[in-house]
Amino acid sequence: MARIVIVDDEKNIRRNLAAFFDSIGHSVRAAASGAEAIAALDDEPADLVLTDFRMAEMDGLRLLEEIKRRDPATVVILMTAFATVESAVAAMKAGAQDYVTKPFTLDEIRRTVERALELRGLRAENRELRSAVEQAPMLETASAAMRRLLDTARQAAASDATILLAGESGTGKNVLARQIHQWSPRRERPYVVVNCTTLSEQLLESELFGHMRGSFTGAVKDKPGRLEAAHLGSVFLDEIADLTPALQTKFLRFVQEQSFERVGGERTIQVDARIIAASNRDLEGEVAAHRFREDLFYRLNVITLYVPPLRERADDVIPMARWMLRAAGLRNRRPGLRLNAEAEATLRRYRWPGNLRELRNAVERAAVLCRSDEITPDDLPDSIFREPRETPPIVAAGAAHRAPSLEEVEREHIRRVLAESATLEEAADTLGINVTTLWRKRRRYGIE
Ligand SMILES: Nc1ncnc2c1ncn2[C@@H]1O[C@H](COP(=O)(O)OP(=O)(O)OP(=O)(O)O)[C@@H](O)[C@H]1O
Ligand SMILES: [Mg+2]
Repeated sequence: MARIVIVDDEKNIRRNLAAFFDSIGHSVRAAASGAEAIAALDDEPADLVLTDFRMAEMDGLRLLEEIKRRDPATVVILMTAFATVESAVAAMKAGAQDYVTKPFTLDEIRRTVERALELRGLRAENRELRSAVEQAPMLETASAAMRRLLDTARQAAASDATILLAGESGTGKNVLARQIHQWSPRRERPYVVVNCTTLSEQLLESELFGHMRGSFTGAVKDKPGRLEAAHLGSVFLDEIADLTPALQTKFLRFVQEQSFERVGGERTIQVDARIIAASNRDLEGEVAAHRFREDLFYRLNVITLYVPPLRERADDVIPMARWMLRAAGLRNRRPGLRLNAEAEATLRRYRWPGNLRELRNAVERAAVLCRSDEITPDDLPDSIFREPRETPPIVAAGAAHRAPSLEEVEREHIRRVLAESATLEEAADTLGINVTTLWRKRRRYGIE
């Protein structure tokens, strides 16, 4: 059963079609004009709209655009008396699923409608599958610190308390922020993300707080801000350290009073939005350097969650990589992909300065490039072989006054790894080269 709206200014056609679709089990509403159809849709959304092309006032094409603007998922089928190529093209361009030429038999129109509904179902399924694959975060962890963090996050999600997410770039702060919203009682309400880095101060102010027409060049009409859009839901302020002093002040007031005025506006707007903020910079350091308002920091610092870098969650690397690979496989239509033992050993050894983002990129790349279903070290980016985990920055001996040369760095690094390894095999493994190469290099650099 589908919800169908039938729009035609000719009473007989409208009635016949409505009775017919009703008789085959659909829930049908009839409208005599575009305006009536819109009113019906505002009242209750529909799966499909079957509309006449030529109507007084709002024609089928305008109605189509109006429907798509409201909900792009609604299927629209146009009925036209003149099957001109132009009208058909225009209709398809505007997003019509299909069109039928009058006169048609009831059987014809039934088949067209059923086909369109079937397609819509497939699309929705696809969308669901895709979003499940793209958005599902991996919440299992072998790291005690990460488990504690997730527990706290879940607990904090239940309240309206402000949450501050700290941690290196790529550790998953954006993913966690969305998850907190999903865990919260506001999950059915809007989740709004504002990145404080990407816009100029003026644009960011209007983006956040909205503006009134004429308040600056380019403000051609009144526009609500993102905070208003987040009403009853959550707002995620990403890279909060980048807020300029003026915006910090205005935002502080919002945090304290849940109210603000639009740019150029007089009316005070009240918004109930849960605040989640994130920064990969050390906010306390920013406060100490007088770049970030101390009072705003304390307002935000109610519950602070420090997301650990991947190198401190070493046991999560492989399960996370497998998880990401499954998602990448589905996305790239290669469901059978797996990492072979050497590839996993390589991933385990690396230091992951770019954290989960870097891991994801490496896995995605491998999923696209690998020739067979088995991913080998050859499919991984070169950078992963260069920087093993838990090795402090290298300073070559005697290079205090100038930067060390590549050879000096390599020599020093090999020397150090050899000193820390039980066997030559182990050292070669750590360095990501084979034993023969290591043996040769050792001789060349005269390392014992
Ligand atoms: N729990 C998770 N499960 C699966 N993938 C994750 C998870 N957390 C993060 N990722 C992946 O890592 C990438 C980086 O995460 P995210 O953008 O949340 O990092 P970030 O901490 O916000 O980084 P930045 O500070 O640079 O903005 C995401 O695109 C996502 O693919
Ligand atoms: Mg981020």
